[in-house]
Amino acid sequence: MSQQLPRRLESEAVGKIPILGLGTWKAAPGEVTEAVKVAIDAGYRHFDCAYLYNNENDVGTGIQQKIKEGVVRREDLFIVSKLWCTYHKKALVKTACYKSLKALKLDYLDLYLIHWPMGFKAMEDLVIAGLVKYIGVSNFNHEQLERLLDKPDLRIKPITNQIECHPYLTQRNLIRFCQSRDVSVTAYRPLGGSCEGVDLMDDPVIKTIAQKHNKSPAQILIRFQIQRGVIVIPKSVNPKRIQENIQVFDFELAEQEVDELLCLDRDFRMARFPIAENHKDYPFNIEY
Ligand SMILES: NC(=O)c1ccc[n+]([C@@H]2O[C@H](COP(=O)([O-])OP(=O)(O)OC[C@H]3O[C@@H](n4cnc5c(N)ncnc54)[C@H](OP(=O)(O)O)[C@@H]3O)[C@@H](O)[C@H]2O)c1
Repeated sequence: MSQQLPRRLESEAVGKIPILGLGTWKAAPGEVTEAVKVAIDAGYRHFDCAYLYNNENDVGTGIQQKIKEGVVRREDLFIVSKLWCTYHKKALVKTACYKSLKALKLDYLDLYLIHWPMGFKAMEDLVIAGLVKYIGVSNFNHEQLERLLDKPDLRIKPITNQIECHPYLTQRNLIRFCQSRDVSVTAYRPLGGSCEGVDLMDDPVIKTIAQKHNKSPAQILIRFQIQRGVIVIPKSVNPKRIQENIQVFDFELAEQEVDELLCLDRDFRMARFPIAENHKDYPFNIEY
């Protein structure tokens, strides 16, 4: 197994964030340590974590072991965590960050995201304190992001907006907006997750494109984002699928195939965060 970052993966990094990372949501604590180790061996360097996922301790164990084995150095890795909504108060932000750092067994994060669009200001202090290299946002709609970017007292700009994105929710307008403001986009749930009754990987258009390239539907879904210049973080705890999901740098989708995938858009959002639907900052009540 290659322990090197595939050359094209490096060259296709979007700005500061490696373009392909491993998602860790719903990765059971008993499985995720091994998944992280397999992923590092396969060439993954970007790991998407969060306090909410309740498994950062086990992710950290995998990272730590690979550093100890000398397979990677800390500075080769790009580790992301997210501030959960119960820690938005300025006084709690640093505490939350320290909790994630301790669980992950790290002394800094590469990127800290605000998980949902409610509060951002105190995140800047973490960069100034050297606890995180970059900060970013997640689930921000374009109005919320614009408001943030236009704040006269903004000290540190978010480097990415992590949003749900796949062919049933292509996010064309929001991606155009983010890229026009020099904020990268990270696609979560790129494979459609495990949403009941909806199986992106069973879509006939996606399956036909996959057969044409002799690739799996998952590889088509991942490559689709990469060709749009979008960072992508498929989750898997299955060693075979972890390896499969990174084998996406040896083929290219034709422009027409990308268009066919874009035409599947049906504005279908899987992650709706229903308990926050009545919050004033709930992000999904506007078009994009
Ligand atoms: N910011 C946010 O609010 C937010 C929200 C949701 C997710 N995220 C992040 O985005 C990551 C990805 O999203 P997600 O986990 O919701 O969904 P996803 O990556 O679209 O899909 C994960 C599902 O696909 C399966 N899978 C993975 N590779 C496969 C392959 N090659 N063939 C067939 N099935 C495959 C996985 O099962 P196995 O594990 O068994 O392979 C899992 O059931 C998360 O893990 C998390 O890090 C962020």
